[in-house]
Amino acid sequence: MIKQGEDGDILYLIESGTLDCFKKFSGQTTDTFLKTYQPGESFGELALLYNAPRAASIRAKENCTLFALDRETFNHIVKDAASKRRDKYETFLSKVEVLQGMDPYERSQIADALVNEKYKAGNHIVTQGEEGNKFYFVEEGELIAMKVMNPGEQPKQVFSYKENDYFGELALLKEQPRAASIISKTDCSLVSLDRAAFKRMLGPLENILSRNTNRYE
Ligand code: CMP
Ligand code: CMP
Repeated sequence: MIKQGEDGDILYLIESGTLDCFKKFSGQTTDTFLKTYQPGESFGELALLYNAPRAASIRAKENCTLFALDRETFNHIVKDAASKRRDKYETFLSKVEVLQGMDPYERSQIADALVNEKYKAGNHIVTQGEEGNKFYFVEEGELIAMKVMNPGEQPKQVFSYKENDYFGELALLKEQPRAASIISKTDCSLVSLDRAAFKRMLGPLENILSRNTNRYE
């Protein structure tokens, strides 16, 4: 579908079928496999966003049905929103320690999937024992984690959060109910990823996130 280095005028959305993405990094003679695209995902946006040659190659693995969005339509309806979003969240995500080792392109993919949520001081964002489907980064504000250690006991503060921290990974990593409650101490701005986006994008980070759980008592 796409050859690295060529000019490109189209962004593709996948209706059905899967495609592989490969990239030849500078100094390399062979392509490196990067990922498999699934229905619902899109590719080919970089050439349109940055007027640059195609940054990777994309090959269909089977018969696929794609929707094509041309440059003119992209410029009219998507470009401003897409680049504003990336600019805003890329700066934020570059400060999140756990994402430091990630390829900048992968971080920009996270930026596309983030949803902003605002809370007043004293709100319960996560409740211990409930099912959890979201992972959160703290953009602004302070929060605490409260945990009932043994049934019948009063909850105890086990953690505190400030900007650039994250929480809510355990329920998604371990497929278990929320292990603590998260309460805002001040007005907060959070950004969340839903379960599907978390699995798709943070998969490579699972090891780091799992290792980091030793920060909890
Ligand atoms: P574009 O450069 O227009 O064409 C190739 C596409 O591959 C690119 O847009 C992205 O949509 C996609 N891609 C996936 N992973 C990467 C990556 N790590 N670097 C660059 N492009 C990537
Ligand atoms: P999760 O279980 O999904 O939701 C509650 C979150 O609280 C949990 O993920 C961790 O991100 C966070 N947390 C902070 N301290 C603790 C702790 N001591 N035990 C468990 N979770 C904690």
